[in-house]
Amino acid sequence: MPTTLVTGASSGIGWELAKQFARGGNDVVVVARSEGKLNELAEQIRREHHVDANVIVSDLSKPDAVDALCDQLREREIRVDTLVNNAGFGALGKFAELSADRQTDMLMVNVVALTRLARQLLPGMIERKRGGILNVGSIAAHQAGPNMSVYYASKAYVLSLTEGLREELSGTGLHVTCLEPGPTETGFGDDSGMGRLKSFSTQAMSAAAVAEAGYEGYVNNEDVVIPGWKNRLLVTSTGFIPRSLTRKVVAKMQGAYE
Ligand SMILES: NC(=O)c1ccc[n+]([C@@H]2O[C@H](COP(=O)([O-])OP(=O)(O)OC[C@H]3O[C@@H](n4cnc5c(N)ncnc54)[C@H](OP(=O)(O)O)[C@@H]3O)[C@@H](O)[C@H]2O)c1
Repeated sequence: MPTTLVTGASSGIGWELAKQFARGGNDVVVVARSEGKLNELAEQIRREHHVDANVIVSDLSKPDAVDALCDQLREREIRVDTLVNNAGFGALGKFAELSADRQTDMLMVNVVALTRLARQLLPGMIERKRGGILNVGSIAAHQAGPNMSVYYASKAYVLSLTEGLREELSGTGLHVTCLEPGPTETGFGDDSGMGRLKSFSTQAMSAAAVAEAGYEGYVNNEDVVIPGWKNRLLVTSTGFIPRSLTRKVVAKMQGAYE
């Protein structure tokens, strides 16, 4: 049975992605900091989908977290076929006013851990000629995000990395997909501050619908999956508008000039 590792599985989109992969016949490894929630999910998955579910508690903002996670996988003799790099968070506010530590942690989770985990797990996938990577980016990847600049930049990185890897790995049989959600009902809204923006809360999709689209897109080896027609329209139209203009629109929406 193939094994899928999902980071950030303790809530929201990651929780639903772990269930999707389990429903599709994958053993799962669920990773996050919240041990209680991970145990609850693992129990639910074992009970409902009759697959194996392993819990690994990890704070991915710590520099040695990914190597410690890989040590745990080796100790438990777990071979990962699919990596779902989902863990991530954002913070609304001006760059010079947000906590420097929080912004650094964001880059550690959204960018550094995502990259290192892919680098550590890919050689095994290439050797076995199966599996792949589903990276969770955001529609934020397609323009600058004043008043949330580090988060938007981190998601632009996720898209660029995913597209690069996809080309490097073409012909290997591996799947490489970037899931780009728009506003989604998860812990993200409250945690980032985005939830108090009307443009976010009125447009939000369910985490289950986003995860289902991501899972299907990965199984079909699509390059980029944008759930929801409104989100797809937004990203398409962004391509026709000068970046100097889109950043002003985002700034207004996110209250940078209030
Ligand atoms: N919701 C949206 O509107 C939206 C839109 C576009 C993209 N996304 C992306 O979707 C992904 C999932 O977010 P979500 O919306 O499902 O939000 P969420 O409900 O807040 O879930 C975030 C997950 O990331 C984990 N995480 C955060 N910091 C971590 C750390 N230091 N170490 C390990 N795990 C950590 C959290 O687990 P613990 O707290 O237990 O560690 C949690 O499981 C993120 O990459 C986010 O950027 C979300």
